[in-house]
Amino acid sequence: MSELLTTHPYNNDLRVALLQLNRPKVLNALTTDLLQEIVDELRRLDDLPEVRCIILTGNDKAFAAGADILKMSQSNPIEQLTDKRMRLWKEFAMISKPIIAAVNGFALGGGHELAMACDFVIAGDSAKFGQPEINIGTTPGAGGTQRLTRALGKSKAMMLALTGEMLSAMDAYECNLIARVVPAKTLLQECFEVAKKIADKSPIAVKLTKDSINKSQELSLSDGLEYERRNFYLSFASADQKEGMSAFLEKRAPEYKGN
Ligand code: HXC
Repeated sequence: MSELLTTHPYNNDLRVALLQLNRPKVLNALTTDLLQEIVDELRRLDDLPEVRCIILTGNDKAFAAGADILKMSQSNPIEQLTDKRMRLWKEFAMISKPIIAAVNGFALGGGHELAMACDFVIAGDSAKFGQPEINIGTTPGAGGTQRLTRALGKSKAMMLALTGEMLSAMDAYECNLIARVVPAKTLLQECFEVAKKIADKSPIAVKLTKDSINKSQELSLSDGLEYERRNFYLSFASADQKEGMSAFLEKRAPEYKGN
């Protein structure tokens, strides 16, 4: 078990994996090593057939308060350029299973970018979101001007990134940055319930749906619709599609096998 990150099935359901950032003394500040561990663990889970959904979380005080400022303060542009961190962010985006960010406390800077890189965010009601890089003389570097702007639109993204202000969980919910707000104390339980719903579905259909929605962020509408249609056709090659439709017609619960 890593000293930075712990992983275990939640409520003994092996289909849902829980990854927990574990640097509480520095509010889960992200080092390259920690990001590497997250990606290594996600890739391992992506290859395990029994795992259907992943929850990424921090602790009550912080999901993650950004890149590690101590490490960053000693860095130079060539180190940044050659650091494997940027490749790790790309590898994170290639995970095919759904990843839910379960956010309590601060999700700031790179920590907020990490939450946005997940498939959706469920937050405790005291969570805070922001891109405070501007306060320390730099600018977001892993999606805080790009994913944020796609999520909020230019005006709100610009104001957040230029002022370094934080959004409350409710504000983040109201502007569609996050999917759900729940009482902070029940965050993991609520995420687990959502993850279980996803785990009950066909893993093939889940994978295709995640892929199509992610493509909507990259493609024009007509290219995206074409891409979506092809994934729809592809789902008909799966035994799970036959099972899902038969189960509906036979008025029984489907049993998906992931093939
Ligand atoms: C390193 C951090 C840290 C960080 C907090 N700590 N955030 N260390 N990197 N990002 C450390 C503090 O130094 C402190 O250590 C301990 O965690 C507790 O933090 P406090 O500040 O004492 O807590 P609090 O007063 O509650 O304030 C919480 C906070 C504040 C508002 C979140 O810590 C803060 O502003 N943190 C920095 C947030 C930030 O600027 N993030 C963006 C980083 S740039 P000690 O030893 O004093 O106890 C970035 C670029 C990403 O993310 C680019 C991607 C490639």
